[in-house]
Amino acid sequence: MRRIIVAANWKMNTTPADAGSLARTIGSRTREPGVIRVICPPYVCLAAVGDALRDGDVAATDGLGVEVGAQNVHHEPAGAYTGEVSAAMLDGLATWVIVGHSERRRDAGETDELIGRKLRAARAAGLRTILCVGEQLDERESGRAEAIVDAQLRGCLGGADLGALGLDGTGAGAVPWLTIAYEPVWAIGTGRTARGADAAAMAGAIRRTLIALGMPGGGEDVPVLYGGSVTSASIDEFLAEPSIDGALVGGASLKPDEMAGIVARAGMTAAARAGLDGTLAGDAPAMG
Ligand code: PGA
Repeated sequence: MRRIIVAANWKMNTTPADAGSLARTIGSRTREPGVIRVICPPYVCLAAVGDALRDGDVAATDGLGVEVGAQNVHHEPAGAYTGEVSAAMLDGLATWVIVGHSERRRDAGETDELIGRKLRAARAAGLRTILCVGEQLDERESGRAEAIVDAQLRGCLGGADLGALGLDGTGAGAVPWLTIAYEPVWAIGTGRTARGADAAAMAGAIRRTLIALGMPGGGEDVPVLYGGSVTSASIDEFLAEPSIDGALVGGASLKPDEMAGIVARAGMTAAARAGLDGTLAGDAPAMG
């Protein structure tokens, strides 16, 4: 059974002075068994958020705490890269990382090839990685959304030795190192969401591409999240789809009320899916 994941992408918001208390508030108000919660603050807030989450009463009743993620990572281990942060530098600060976010593709010119290198660097450092993919509005309207996402996945993962990347053999209940976030670019920060059925169709297409790329297990182990203007009001539409395993939340993730609503619904989904599957939602996750 795949895990339900709610990942908060704080983007360029919060400061080291206020991030810790916000993280602790969100953590203590989202203690749902069976839901993996990840907060991805700016680099400079990673330590404050990690300290606050260790300190506070934020673990869910099944023992799952809130995990910390970075929003980006450099593809090289060290060197003359001013302003950059390598995967090794995140040791002790983050256990997750987002790569390929559309804002970085847009603002930093990140290509699929570069994002693929970041993925490998993250994997080598033992970070769980959320790879973002998604089409532009004109690509959706001209019926090319699935082809665009297929090309992004091939550009990032193609040519890689997927066995060496550890995409296989994750086992029941494990959280594999790779998670895909389907984020239609036109839905990010716009208040406009994809339809649940379209997101589910895309999740199916994503898993077909993973199979075509030679991923053992048919891509079924890899969680697929939806992202793009997710709120406590819109999350149900996506969690109602069995192929969608949670959400990557931007704007709403800075609001404790919104996060409480989103994770509460994710908790209900986790319980329902665990019931269907006959497994306990509270099994400890293992690194796949
Ligand atoms: P949003 O951002 O929820 O503010 O649309 C989502 C994301 O960019 O990950």
